[in-house]
Amino acid sequence: MKIRTATSSDVPAMYTVDHIAVDDGGRRQNIRDWVNADQAIVAVVGNTVVGYSALEYTFFGYGFIVMLVVKKESRRNGVATALVEYHEQRCTTNKLFTSTNESNKPMQALMKNMRYEPSGTVYNLDEGDPELFYVKRLQSS
Ligand SMILES: CC(C)(COP(=O)(O)OP(=O)(O)OC[C@H]1O[C@@H](n2cnc3c(N)ncnc32)[C@H](O)[C@@H]1OP(=O)(O)O)[C@@H](O)C(=O)NCCC(=O)NCCS
Repeated sequence: MKIRTATSSDVPAMYTVDHIAVDDGGRRQNIRDWVNADQAIVAVVGNTVVGYSALEYTFFGYGFIVMLVVKKESRRNGVATALVEYHEQRCTTNKLFTSTNESNKPMQALMKNMRYEPSGTVYNLDEGDPELFYVKRLQSS
């Protein structure tokens, strides 16, 4: 598996990895924007994109993983771990944040496995499904 910055030629494959993008033009636009801003990375096995992720610096100036998704058939193979580690190596702030819904148990398990610390809960975003925030303190800044 190789992790690298996404290019415009990866965009159609990124749509297929992300089931929300199949029906949601807003998500497809997000993907194009992340790619154009060099904020998206892809995990590639052979010639196939099996996952992607995006890192922004819009959260109080800190690195924030705003998207992380792995193709259903490729899960539990360390793809998300490799994508997050790639962000950790390149993040230019000394703290890296992300968040997920309380209902998203796989993402919470990933965060625990990667030693992210809980960093608070925000209510009233998705109704009835609070947003859990996480942080990892990085060595370099
Ligand atoms: C959450 C997600 C990104 C995890 O991707 P993944 O490539 O399967 O994760 P990894 O293989 O790197 O998982 C590493 C570890 O995290 C934990 N983990 C990940 N998914 C898990 C699950 N479904 N159940 C329990 N533990 C899980 C395990 O400890 C796992 O190690 P193990 O497989 O050796 O037990 C994936 O399930 C996904 O794309 N979900 C849909 C999109 C999403 O919810 N994104 C989160 C952003 S809000």
